[in-house]
Amino acid sequence: MWQQTDCFCVILSAIITGSLSVSWDMKVSPVVSVPRGEDAVLSCSFTHPRQQDYSGLITVKWIARETNALPFFKCSVRNDSMEELKDCSGSELKHSLRGDPRQGDLSLVIRKVHVADSGPYFCRVELDGWRQNQQGETRLRVTVKPQILSLSVVELSSDSTTRRLQCEVEGNPPPSITWLSASRGLLTDQVFTSEVNLEKLYSSVPYVEGEVFTCRVENMLGGAERRYPADNTLIITLSVCGLIVLLLLCAGIICCRRRRVLSRRLQVDGELQLVYTTVSPTTQHESLKSSNSRHLEEEGVVYSPVNVQ
Ligand SMILES: *[C@@H]1O[C@H](CO)[C@@H](O)[C@H](O)[C@H]1NC(C)=O
Repeated sequence: MWQQTDCFCVILSAIITGSLSVSWDMKVSPVVSVPRGEDAVLSCSFTHPRQQDYSGLITVKWIARETNALPFFKCSVRNDSMEELKDCSGSELKHSLRGDPRQGDLSLVIRKVHVADSGPYFCRVELDGWRQNQQGETRLRVTVKPQILSLSVVELSSDSTTRRLQCEVEGNPPPSITWLSASRGLLTDQVFTSEVNLEKLYSSVPYVEGEVFTCRVENMLGGAERRYPADNTLIITLSVCGLIVLLLLCAGIICCRRRRVLSRRLQVDGELQLVYTTVSPTTQHESLKSSNSRHLEEEGVVYSPVNVQ
């Protein structure tokens, strides 16, 4: 008998909680990836069974990292009010709501994200007279393209025998770092890598004078590499090209000037020595025919000697 009542109660509570959880609905995007420095939108929306006639207070809370932590963002609005969402939004704020909670939109905007903003976020809504509140979890990933910030020789102790070549790297997810040497290929011995902060790493190898090293970094967003000593061929090529262009330019200018001077002189000469001639095409034609038969093969061309007076 006792067992039957227990069983009945369990079924009843299952039906009640079941119907409640079915009628509440909360949608969040499980993972949001955003490049460092851009704005992130953590989308979150909800529906509830009494929304047809609900006029009470809607309280939105956003919590970071731990579900039981205090909310870093909280704002409330009455559903029957027409007021602006002053506390909830503002373009100059680090955190603000993108939409209107009265329409079931709880999405949060985080401006200019840092790597430290990464992690789990919980979106929560509380309604008047509702003991149960709803919560959804989303995870923010702030990404950084891998880059080599510096590559230099450092002396780790006072005696200069322990010199190491150090590569300062940034990237998120933390990039893999590979060392190559021109003579020995891939370096795996005595490679020390340490994390400076969430997005920055130091990696170093023993430095050998005269050896050419390459530090290479890679993560899912891309890769980068740098050589030590720095590869100067590009700079040399560029400066040689620049020099050639400069020389050509100079030569061009000199040429132009000369030509201008020459043509001016020719103009002057032409004006001074005007030559007048009389051209008589018909009379001299016969004599020309006999002297130059090759030219006569060309049709319609009339050759005539010119008498200079
Ligand atoms: C607020 O009220 C409107 C109109 O009655 C309703 O459509 C909406 O779903 C309500 N919002 C919430 C969150 O209950």
